[in-house]
Amino acid sequence: MDLKSLIRDIPDFPKPGIMFRDITTLLNDAEGLRYTIDTLAEKCRDKGLNPDYIVGMESRGFLFGVPLAYQLGAGFIPVRKPGKLPAAVHSIEYDLEYGTDTLEIHQDAVAAHHKVLIVDDLIATGGTAKATAELLQKIGCEVLGFAFIIELTFLEGRKKLPDLPIITLVEY
Ligand code: PRP
Ligand code: ADE
Repeated sequence: MDLKSLIRDIPDFPKPGIMFRDITTLLNDAEGLRYTIDTLAEKCRDKGLNPDYIVGMESRGFLFGVPLAYQLGAGFIPVRKPGKLPAAVHSIEYDLEYGTDTLEIHQDAVAAHHKVLIVDDLIATGGTAKATAELLQKIGCEVLGFAFIIELTFLEGRKKLPDLPIITLVEY
């Protein structure tokens, strides 16, 4: 299936010069959505990735992470922007182009023996995925790899990630 044809390109969003890759049109397409989740799951099985948990990043990582977890028979753990999770959290601060940002995960959601797969809709600079992997590794989880629908290859985000399997479906 041609997934690229289901991803909408919006120029100059959210800022001039950015070509936004909009996955809402992919989510809207029943066959495209099913194909996306089934293909991610198949690639995980082909690579022998058998996580206990999918860890998905706010907010678009949730949209693909939960159905993938269901498909793989895994649980799902959200990583959220600061101040959103109600119980005690582990957090990590990471660098943005200008300034810093923070990601949080519930302390009681993760334990050192967990095998986890990190899932997001898109990897751009890789900062979000790198910080998520560091947060999980600091806790002692075994990060098995990463899965993204979209990779913006020109930003070379994968170079920031640890040397682990990376599944992607569409490249720009
Ligand atoms: C987008 C995207 C990834 C991240 C990728 O999320 O969904 O999470 O940016 O960028 P990076 O590889 O440079 O870190 P965004 O922060 O826009 O949040 P949203 O999903 O809530 O819209
Ligand atoms: N997140 C970071 N860069 C993006 C882009 N070009 N399109 C959609 N989401 C993004």
